[in-house]
Amino acid sequence: MRVLVTGGAGFIGSHVVTALRKRGHEAIVFDVREDPAADVRDPAAVGRALAGVDAVCHQAAKVGLGDGVADAADYVSHNDLGTAVLLAAMAEAGVRTLVLAGSMVVYGEGRYGCARHGVVRPGPRAVADLDAGRFEPACPLCGQDLSPGLVREDAPADPRNVYATTKLAQEHLAAAWARCTGGSAVSLRYHNVYGPGMPRDTPYAGVASFFRSALARGQAPRVFEDGRQRRDFVHVRDVAAANAVALEAGAAPGALTAYNAGSGDPHTVGEMARTLAVAYGGPEPVVTGEYRLGDVRHITADSSRLRAELGWKPEVGFEEGVREFARAGMRGE
Ligand SMILES: NC(=O)c1ccc[n+]([C@@H]2O[C@H](COP(=O)([O-])OP(=O)(O)OC[C@H]3O[C@@H](n4cnc5c(N)ncnc54)[C@H](O)[C@@H]3O)[C@@H](O)[C@H]2O)c1
Ligand SMILES: [Zn+2]
Repeated sequence: MRVLVTGGAGFIGSHVVTALRKRGHEAIVFDVREDPAADVRDPAAVGRALAGVDAVCHQAAKVGLGDGVADAADYVSHNDLGTAVLLAAMAEAGVRTLVLAGSMVVYGEGRYGCARHGVVRPGPRAVADLDAGRFEPACPLCGQDLSPGLVREDAPADPRNVYATTKLAQEHLAAAWARCTGGSAVSLRYHNVYGPGMPRDTPYAGVASFFRSALARGQAPRVFEDGRQRRDFVHVRDVAAANAVALEAGAAPGALTAYNAGSGDPHTVGEMARTLAVAYGGPEPVVTGEYRLGDVRHITADSSRLRAELGWKPEVGFEEGVREFARAGMRGE
């Protein structure tokens, strides 16, 4: 298969390129980082790149939490305008297979259960609660403590920040494209991806990158909130493999199929910091109680659909992956 990998020079995209080539496919990188003319928002450039292509693996995006709303237009431009231009060019070129880098951020807060009310959906946390160190969202009906559970693909969308909104819009655009063209679209909703080549800390980086970058400076990783927020850390090679199997399998035509792509082995952010610090041989993490508005408390995936339908399974365990990440290089080091 000849696959155009947008964002193919990025953290995840470069691992996707490697995985595809290992499996005997041809991967073409289309990334503005590598070539200033390779911008997904440029219809002519995308049109040229699609010549002879069987499928598109769309990783290109502006990532991270950014700075609130000041850079909203830039997120919408790269992520949504970029996706729209790409899809229109695919329709024109007759390319009918798309795998999209989705994200668990479309869910907002994860799934929670109240002892009295069953499954509930807490809203965004109030600043007053966060300032007072009350990090756990409470039951919206009775105010009682909740227990976090695993989010399935049919959970309602609830994007909580600009980036999340653009990731959700990408899926809606891809679904519209699939309906109009009879194409098949898969969104792999990645959870917290980490591993070799992860970009160093910027306002756009993931939490594992902050910790790893602090250790590289000889500093203690700073853990926000109380460190007990739960995430599903999934290794970048496993995510790359999920892209390859999704491209090979194809999906139902005329629709978008979404899959959670997580390890299925949730850990707390504090555990990530400690495991990484031990593996690096650096200072112990400090739990600071700071918070970022727009962060969610717990978000962990039920990725059984991806396993059952596409036969994918994660190969890199948490301890092993974090040990490797402690030694591996990061982008920008
Ligand atoms: N890293 C994670 O934990 C995570 C989690 C969920 C989803 N994702 C998604 O995975 C994808 C890849 O993210 P990443 O972590 O590898 O980030 P990254 O920044 O390393 O890679 C993104 C790449 O896209 C390229 N790009 C951005 N705008 C472009 C444009 N207009 N035209 C062409 N190329 C453009 C960038 O140059 C970059 O190389 C993104 O779609 C992101 O939303 C990542
Ligand atoms: Zn309740």
